[in-house]
Amino acid sequence: MPEKNFYITTPIYYPSGKPHMGHAYSSIIADVFARFKKIDGYKAYFLTGTDEHGLKIQREAKKNNKDPKKFCDELSITFKNLTKTLNLSNNDFIRTTEKRHYDSVKEIWERLEKSGDIYLGKYSGWYSVSDEAYYDEEEIIDENGSKKSKTSGSKVEWVEEESYFFKLSAWSNKLLKFYQENPKFILPVSRRNEVVNFVKKGLKDLSVSRTSFSWGIPVPSNKKHIIYVWLDALTNYISALKFPDTENKLYRDFWPADLHIIGKDILRFHAIYWPAFLLAAKIKPPKRVYGHGWILSDEKKMSKSLGNILDPLEIIKDYGVDQLRYYLIKEVSLGNDGSISLENLKNCINNDLANNFGNLCQRVFSFIDKNCDSKIPSPDKFNTRDKELSDEIIKKISDLKYMIDNQELNSYIKEVINFSFNSNKYFNDLEPWKLKKTNKVRMNTVLYCILNQIKSISILLYPIIPSSIEKIFDKLNLKKEELNIEQIKNLNLIVPGKIIKKSNILFKKIDNDN
Ligand code: ME8
Ligand code: MG
Repeated sequence: MPEKNFYITTPIYYPSGKPHMGHAYSSIIADVFARFKKIDGYKAYFLTGTDEHGLKIQREAKKNNKDPKKFCDELSITFKNLTKTLNLSNNDFIRTTEKRHYDSVKEIWERLEKSGDIYLGKYSGWYSVSDEAYYDEEEIIDENGSKKSKTSGSKVEWVEEESYFFKLSAWSNKLLKFYQENPKFILPVSRRNEVVNFVKKGLKDLSVSRTSFSWGIPVPSNKKHIIYVWLDALTNYISALKFPDTENKLYRDFWPADLHIIGKDILRFHAIYWPAFLLAAKIKPPKRVYGHGWILSDEKKMSKSLGNILDPLEIIKDYGVDQLRYYLIKEVSLGNDGSISLENLKNCINNDLANNFGNLCQRVFSFIDKNCDSKIPSPDKFNTRDKELSDEIIKKISDLKYMIDNQELNSYIKEVINFSFNSNKYFNDLEPWKLKKTNKVRMNTVLYCILNQIKSISILLYPIIPSSIEKIFDKLNLKKEELNIEQIKNLNLIVPGKIIKKSNILFKKIDNDN
């Protein structure tokens, strides 16, 4: 059987300022997909890191009176710590200031030069340092004498200097053909349409080097030029696989990438420039770019001036990391912009985690604790109702995998939480507290059936709330290796007679004034 491999990435973050909810969001989404694949028999490789070059970082460093490398060394650690705080399962953390990345960018540049896709010219036009992006005249607005990008609202400045260009104009038709042949290359569909329409208007050549600052990777053949930070940054996805050594196992196993998770603001770079660079350098483009929406706070973009910033680290401290992960995945519709608020967060934790899945676990565990000496009961034969309950999940496994493979996270989580709702209903309907007096054998079977449900729902929730689920698995005396999609079908995995270990409440209900 061929190995099942899966390569997924987050954007690499600009290490400036504090990590915010947008960073947390991109990372958590990617982690959910990575973890699902890891428990579905795939060899999954998950990459994140920091994007450390360019004028934006050079200016930030200067503002802080620091040498740029030193500045990045410090802030990169903050972002690395974020991966721990968010409980990400990343396999690597790349920094664009590492040697392995320099080697890889150098090779890409030389390939583009050799194929005739790069020429020397002069750039004059608008540039946004905050977006590290060039904008056309039509993409700019004048707001009280200050020029801004229409889409991002960030300030632009006029640039005029000698520059190398990438012949992007020559790639319009080839890109359109590529999108047509790979209809799911860009998702969701609305973003795909956006990109296709943009490319159909024809692409201009892209300035890919700058001479007015020094913080970056020099053009190998002309050191006064610094390679455009996006050509540099995008290449991280292959640097981490040891490109240009295309014969090594990492590269052979994992390139082309299965999924780049990104925010919609950086779609153009990933869906247009990146495949064009790769095709020109004779490297296969990735299989999919998924552009998620914006996290808004009370319907508005989160911003310092509006004072509506929800700090992921504060929320994790107050409510827990799984709580934040669950909330972002459940309540923000992936692909669309989504408003978040503390009020909604608390409601979500209470409704889904405390009152639904948490309640299911709590009532069953405490019932077994009180009535079965804390021992997992031994079941008799399952009847139709019992089988219906477990079949409901088993029959949905392939649909659930499809949802994950198509990034339909909201449908996925709705299904899973519905399983939990139905298991609670089964417990209510079958009234084990009454069976205790009338039919203990039946009581044991009912309890065992619900434990099976808890196990299956746990496996499905693991990608979203991994540390809580590890605790449940531990309570059930199940091993980490058994946390696997295949085990949903195994109705004999849980061993009767074993003690259900005591533990604190998994998901505390939150009072309104809390
Ligand atoms: O763009 N809601 O880095 P970055 C949702 N270095 N997502 C948001 C967000 C918000 N309010 N704010 C930011 C970069 N993001 C480049 C990437 S990849 C080769 C280079 C998301 O630190 C944003 O869309 O500015 C992006 O996906 C990620 O955070 C990193 O942003
Ligand atoms: Mg940004």
